[in-house]
Amino acid sequence: MWRRLVGAGPRRDPHPAPPPEWVWPVYLYGRTPTGAEVALRPLMYADGPVFQAVRRANAEWLEPWDATAPDPSTPPRSFEDLVRQYDDDGAAGRALPLAIESAGRLVGQVNVGTVVFGSFRSCHVGYWVSRAVAGQMIVPTAVALVADHLFTRVGLHRMEINIRPQNTASLAVVRKLGFRAEGHRPHYLHIDGAWRTHLSFAITTEDLGSETMLERLTRLTRSTQSSHESLARHTESGAGAGEAPRLPS
Ligand SMILES: CC(C)(COP(=O)(O)OP(=O)(O)OC[C@H]1O[C@@H](n2cnc3c(N)ncnc32)[C@H](O)[C@@H]1OP(=O)(O)O)[C@@H](O)C(=O)NCCC(=O)NCCS
Repeated sequence: MWRRLVGAGPRRDPHPAPPPEWVWPVYLYGRTPTGAEVALRPLMYADGPVFQAVRRANAEWLEPWDATAPDPSTPPRSFEDLVRQYDDDGAAGRALPLAIESAGRLVGQVNVGTVVFGSFRSCHVGYWVSRAVAGQMIVPTAVALVADHLFTRVGLHRMEINIRPQNTASLAVVRKLGFRAEGHRPHYLHIDGAWRTHLSFAITTEDLGSETMLERLTRLTRSTQSSHESLARHTESGAGAGEAPRLPS
């Protein structure tokens, strides 16, 4: 009866087919602001041994930031299940889960999830790299590459990144890319065994104008470097040793 009253029209698919601009599989290439090559591609079954070795070697490094299952009885997923899930999500336009390669080696992941079209045209992004390659701007470059693909080729409008306030390295990533701080999300995501509060950052195509994200990353990184260099010059020539430099108010 209820169904007859409200269900007069055709039932709507909660996640309709993605628009024709959506492509899967996706392969993206670029360079960090210091010139190192970064390649993004889908994870493959053949990556299993390397992927598992990198994850094992970095277990302690990743543990404070990795999402966990709220139900502790959830069985761990096999690598094959993970690849199958990524492939299904990628093909359906729900996600863009990509492996990060640097110098030809698998070193991490950039996972775009919660892809929504319609009037929202938004997504969120998560990422990690092996500790051995941290500090080389591989992840900011990977995020810039997926953002340029999604904004320019696919037509998304907004990208969001949520970060635990203690994660200074990840906060540096959104700062380098010029994401806007949008607020504070109490008990937002289940991480390392509990519901953790996050800070939320986003960027929309209006923020970019005619610039690409990769160009923005290079520009913002250079301007931070030159202001550090200028501060160092003023500190050396002006202030005496041990004195705090005078900062603009
Ligand atoms: C956060 C993370 C993805 C950053 O990736 P990245 O490619 O190293 O990014 P960057 O090179 O821009 O470095 C970002 C910050 O890491 C820190 N960093 C630099 N070198 C480092 C090193 N050798 N080891 C550890 N941290 C380092 C610095 O704070 C740097 O910021 P700065 O350049 O302003 O000093 C990476 O640290 C990581 O995978 N961490 C563990 C997982 C994680 O936190 N994921 C994100 C959850 S929101």
